[in-house]
Amino acid sequence: MTATPRLGVGVGLRTPHHAQVLTGDVGEVEWFEVITENVIDSHGRMRWVVEQVAERWPVVLHGVALGIGSTDPLDRVYLGRLRRLAGELRAAWVSDHLCWNGVQGLSTHELLPLPLRPDVLEHVAARVRIVQDVLGQRLVLENPSGYVGFGSSSMSEPQFLAELVGATGCGLLLDLNNVHVTAYNHDLDPRAWIEALPVESIVQIHLAGHDDCGTHLLDSHDRPVADPVWALYRQAIARFGPVPTLIEWDAALPSFARLAEEAERARQVARQVLGNEQAEGACVALAGALAEVGT
Ligand SMILES: [Fe+2]
Repeated sequence: MTATPRLGVGVGLRTPHHAQVLTGDVGEVEWFEVITENVIDSHGRMRWVVEQVAERWPVVLHGVALGIGSTDPLDRVYLGRLRRLAGELRAAWVSDHLCWNGVQGLSTHELLPLPLRPDVLEHVAARVRIVQDVLGQRLVLENPSGYVGFGSSSMSEPQFLAELVGATGCGLLLDLNNVHVTAYNHDLDPRAWIEALPVESIVQIHLAGHDDCGTHLLDSHDRPVADPVWALYRQAIARFGPVPTLIEWDAALPSFARLAEEAERARQVARQVLGNEQAEGACVALAGALAEVGT
């Protein structure tokens, strides 16, 4: 398993914050996540901004269009561009979601759930191996938020993910808000969900806000991280260690300073759980990661 750079706490790079980020006034924010599809076909201002950011901070690429679970053939042109982009930005890793987006060349632009069965696991694992071969690096997959499931599913989601890691060596992006949303919507125990994942597989954590719609929770990314998700973060940090963590806030976007506050809260929680010794170890590892990406 490839060693994961200890990047600390980052935030998603969003257009309304570009001007401020380019001034370097980002507080203690240590790294940025870039949405792959925003830059993969762009050579305009967006791409220029991301290149400037990648010169100064570590960046990771987070995609929404890979369609690792689809039955359509993998898009080799997209994968080639992704490999080139990751190289040009010196991305610390490349992630996408355990989902399918569409079929027969049509995209719903949604992260659709998969039936969690051994034959689907085999299908996804074969595609992950192809993607990793093309990229020349480990693919990192995120657990999506769940609202419906398939009657034919015979595995739990963490079991599916754990077996996928075992079969392919891929990494996992553990979205704790998605765990909370999925567990609530499907009446599952989120703590047991987290305990079922292999420790060495977790490359990154996402923290985000959600909307309580009464009958279900909606993964809305439009507000602060909720208390039950912070509680899961404590559990996750205790189990997985100082995993690079990202605040995902996409709608009703606050000021950059407010985002940085949310990042600082994550940093404080990690310090409380791990103590100063490990937090300092993470800082040393961060310095190493920065040297590696040439900042
Ligand atoms: Fe996420």
